Amino acid sequence: MKLLYTISLSWIALLCASQSYAQNTLYIPPALTGTTFNLSAQSGTTTLFSGFNTPTYGINGTWMAPTLIINKGDSVTFNVTNNLPVSTTIHWHGLHLPSKWDGGPHQIINTGSIWSPRFKVMNDAATFWYHPHGDKKTELHVSKGMAGMIIVKDAAEAALTLPRTYGVDDIPVIIQSKAFDVLKQIAIATEDDTTVFVNGTMQPYLNAPAQVIRLRLLNGSTSRSFKLGFTGNLAFSLIGNDAGLLDTSTTLTRIQIAPGERYEILLNLTGKQSQTIYLKNFGTELTNGIHGSAQVGTTGGMIPGYVDNKLNGADFNVLKIMVTAPTSTPVTTIPTTLVPKSPFPISSVNKERTFLFLPEPPSTPDKMVEGPFLINGNSFDMNIVNDTVKLGHTEIWKLVNGTEIAHPFHIHDVWFYVLDINGVPPPLYERGKKDVILVMPKDTVRFITKFEDFADPIVPFMYHCHLLHHEDEGMMGSFIVVDSTTSVKNYQQDNMIVKVYPNPAATSWLVEGGTDSKEIKVTLYDLMGKMLFTRLLSPVSGKFATSVNADLLPVGLYVLKINSEFSTQTLQLLKSNY
Ligand code: C2O
Ligand code: CU
Ligand code: CU
Repeated sequence: MKLLYTISLSWIALLCASQSYAQNTLYIPPALTGTTFNLSAQSGTTTLFSGFNTPTYGINGTWMAPTLIINKGDSVTFNVTNNLPVSTTIHWHGLHLPSKWDGGPHQIINTGSIWSPRFKVMNDAATFWYHPHGDKKTELHVSKGMAGMIIVKDAAEAALTLPRTYGVDDIPVIIQSKAFDVLKQIAIATEDDTTVFVNGTMQPYLNAPAQVIRLRLLNGSTSRSFKLGFTGNLAFSLIGNDAGLLDTSTTLTRIQIAPGERYEILLNLTGKQSQTIYLKNFGTELTNGIHGSAQVGTTGGMIPGYVDNKLNGADFNVLKIMVTAPTSTPVTTIPTTLVPKSPFPISSVNKERTFLFLPEPPSTPDKMVEGPFLINGNSFDMNIVNDTVKLGHTEIWKLVNGTEIAHPFHIHDVWFYVLDINGVPPPLYERGKKDVILVMPKDTVRFITKFEDFADPIVPFMYHCHLLHHEDEGMMGSFIVVDSTTSVKNYQQDNMIVKVYPNPAATSWLVEGGTDSKEIKVTLYDLMGKMLFTRLLSPVSGKFATSVNADLLPVGLYVLKINSEFSTQTLQLLKSNY
């Protein structure tokens, strides 16, 4: 242990010394466009440190992942083939889609198999990302290299004068700090993340034209937050956050970004040709309590190794920008008015619920900063649904951080507006549509959101801390969205419409639907997973119907699965005695 520590410190010294040379060209992940995306999760080795082969993961390669560019309104299909030696999942962080295609811990892709989620892009233009989300495996798979950007485009964004030539004046900036052991193998569950990458490149430099450039900042780190700015306190304009462009652009000199968060900024490099500017982390300015600041905890609690990490509470360069000649059609102005937003009115709120973060008992000062952490007293369990939300409801979620470390809270399915932090409206950079919010120690944050479009009585969505180590240790819960407006389950998804009625039923359920599949299989299970009934149907002119006998079944809940060639629908049915 002692030896390891000494060696890693000397590596830090080496890295810091060579940092200013920034000798590696920033990798710009290839952009994939269209409506069908073939993605292959792969493993292999990558030479990140000369003389070392580091085992890594990637999508369509062995390190990092392509950028997916999709359009609002398009129906997209992702064919994800798992060529890893282990099972994984792929989650579309921030996208509003059915829970069965969300890629959370329940949508496991086994080795050698293909998972093909298909959904309509419903989000506004913004920067999203995709990454694995396996049960207790998120940190490992993300750290090993699986993280990619998703750019959503729409008409409102296209109407603005903004830089949008990918890789030229519109640059993905995926910032990640990672830890390595002495053999340069990627390490997790450690505080030794002393190597900073942008798009998988260490000590990167970017040649950027002398005009307005757009940086799509994404913090894909396990734990570290950054307070970003530029050398000379160069001002920049914030135009968008997690899930959309802002109403107006805001001039800033710093922006704080927690794991999972995204910000789009514009930097005006007009007239700066041949200058060198650094995107820097101002870690000295991070408030204590945030992972990445000098210190977490106020009652003497410690995370082993935290204070030994020289990046904590330190200022350092993230990306070197060398300004080159402008392009032939440069953007030279920064728009002030962007895309107007109208947050959900408080008067429309149906329910307020509270999420309390506390360490696993018995709570000690160490546990207050180190965890494992619970949400409302619960640790994540694959088989438990923690919250049930009604489709169409507007809710306020109140996040109460009873611990001594900041947690970036993330919710799947929806985006939200932050209402207040300890009763005070959020700073400008946290207004607009978000899906991650950093909750400081002892703070209370309230956000408002609406659960529209996707009800599924069985397959849950997740909410969790986006510090991946906390997530893996159980700081996550699940919720289902249920459609309570009718007893008839009318379930629609892409190529199949299924109606099962009546529900509850005393004698039989009628199953009817439309599909473009040539074959449909209807199977009834009890809650223990025991098969009670199965029937194969051949749709005629795209229509199918059958009845499922309920007569002899005990009163209670059952699960009906309807498989087409393309998808599986799962419905929860109730046998009643009336
Ligand atoms: Cu970015 Cu549930 O994750
Ligand atoms: Cu997510
Ligand atoms: Cu956390």
